Formats: sequence, structure tokens, C-alpha cells
Amino acid sequence: MARITAGVATSHVPLLGVAHDLGKDKDDYFGPIFAGYEWTRAWEKSEKPDVVILVYNDHASAFDMKVIPTFAIGCGERYKPADEGWGPRKVPDVIGHADLAWHIAQCLILDEFDMTIINEMDVDHGLTVPLSMMFGAVEEWPVKVIPLAVNVVTYPPPSGNRCWALGEAIRRAVECYGEDLNVQVWGTGGMSHQLQGARAGLINKEWDNDFLDGMIGDSDRLRHIPHIEYLRETGSEGIEMVMWLIMRGTMGPATRALHRHYHVPCSNTAIGHLVLEPAA
Ligand code: DHB
Ligand code: FE
Repeated sequence: MARITAGVATSHVPLLGVAHDLGKDKDDYFGPIFAGYEWTRAWEKSEKPDVVILVYNDHASAFDMKVIPTFAIGCGERYKPADEGWGPRKVPDVIGHADLAWHIAQCLILDEFDMTIINEMDVDHGLTVPLSMMFGAVEEWPVKVIPLAVNVVTYPPPSGNRCWALGEAIRRAVECYGEDLNVQVWGTGGMSHQLQGARAGLINKEWDNDFLDGMIGDSDRLRHIPHIEYLRETGSEGIEMVMWLIMRGTMGPATRALHRHYHVPCSNTAIGHLVLEPAA
């Protein structure tokens, strides 16, 4: 049977992709950020996951105001890096796992989560930056990826509670897939950041670290944080953190932290990174 063995949370700041592509991973500004991912790169090499369900948000690259899916699952065979204005990043295409993705889509929809099914799209920094952080510069990504896109760009995004419940349903779906697969779930985005307006540059270290604490152990207090609290305490783009709760929901009642990293600043954002395993 397929199993979800671990969860990874990480910020997805596009500047990290640029820094990595230009070989600046070790300079004064980026060195301490990338250093916090070295443990994870070594761990991923030994874990060798077959598939990553990669929860991320599209930033007006594949979708725009014409179509705004709340939850969408990529059921395609392959996805190209999106052109976000400077040409597509020169990173490998992302290879999907269409069979598992269609299985998950079927299970989720019959479980009353009305997913949008996507067969063709390009994937932006929300998805490719986490891959670079976890695997570095490679000829091919060493995993298949099922993109799971969440609307956190246009009001109203889904509630944290609904995201957590979706994670629980994803776990049920993976666990009834007949092939032996090592599956990880990654939640991306966050932590505190606001990119525009009077509060641009807002960072809230105390709140972020309390959120990191809440991801670990057997409490489900994070699922009840209202949207207004993310906005007030973590800035307008801090709402991306509801995507971490989809990952957390797949972990079951309790988690153990294998690795934790927090660094301020990276561009306008507080970098947060966690590696979790189910503890129940
Ligand atoms: C930044 C952070 C993001 O999460 C994003 O999607 C775009 C930009 C930033 O801090 O620059
Ligand atoms: Fe973002």
C-alpha cells in the first residue's frame, strides 16, 4: 500500500530560486538561509520518496482572475516551469504521477471535497522553489510530483480548518492506493510577509514561532485560527500558511519534528521550514 511517511513545510520566496540559479547559495545574505536546508537535502537522499504531493499556490501564472479554483489537483503527466516575467527558470520539467493523482481526485471528490482537476498547466515559484531547496541543482527531479494548488491569492481563501480536513482526506486516499509507494506531503508558502501597501515588510517572529510550535505534537489548535488573525498578525501574504495545515492534516493526530529552521529576512518574508513525521 502507499504510505505518507513524512511532511515538509517550507517558504517559497522566488528570490531563493534566483539566488540558487545564480550560484549565490553561500553568500553572506543567502548562506544562513540555505544552511537551514542542508539537513533536509541529506535526509531526502536517504528517504528517497517516490511521490511528493506538493501543496502550493499559483501566483497568477497558470490561473488569473478568469478562473480561481479553491483546491485543484494536477492529474497530468508533466508540468513546465512557468514564465513569471523573466523567462522560465532553467530547472527540469516536473513529472507527475497521473495514476495516483486520479485515484486521489476520485477519493477526495467521493469524500465530498469538490476538487478541480487539472491536466495541463505550468508551475511557478510556489512549486519549483521548494523543489530546488530540497534537491539542489539536478538534471531531473528525483521524485514524481502531484501539484495541489490552493487559492490564497484572491479573497476568500479556504479556512484553515477545511485545509486540515482536506489533509485528513488525502491521507485516507493515499492509504487505499494499492501500489507500494513512499509518499511525502509538502506544504509551502509563508511565513509572515506582506508584499504591498502601508504594512509591506511586516514580519512577526513571535507569531511565526508559535505557529511552528503548533505544527509539532498532538494539538490541533492551529486549525481554528481565523483568516483575520493571519492578516492582522502575519500580513496579507501570511495567509499562505493555511497550506501548511493541509500537510499537517495528512500527518494524523500527532507529529514529531525531525528538523526546524527559521530565518529573517529573505526578501520581504520570514523563512520557515519544518520536517515532520507522523507520531501516532
Ligand atoms: C515573496 C514571497 C512570496 O511568498 C511570494 O510568493 C512572492 C514574493 C517575497 O518575499 O519577495
Ligand atoms: Fe507566495
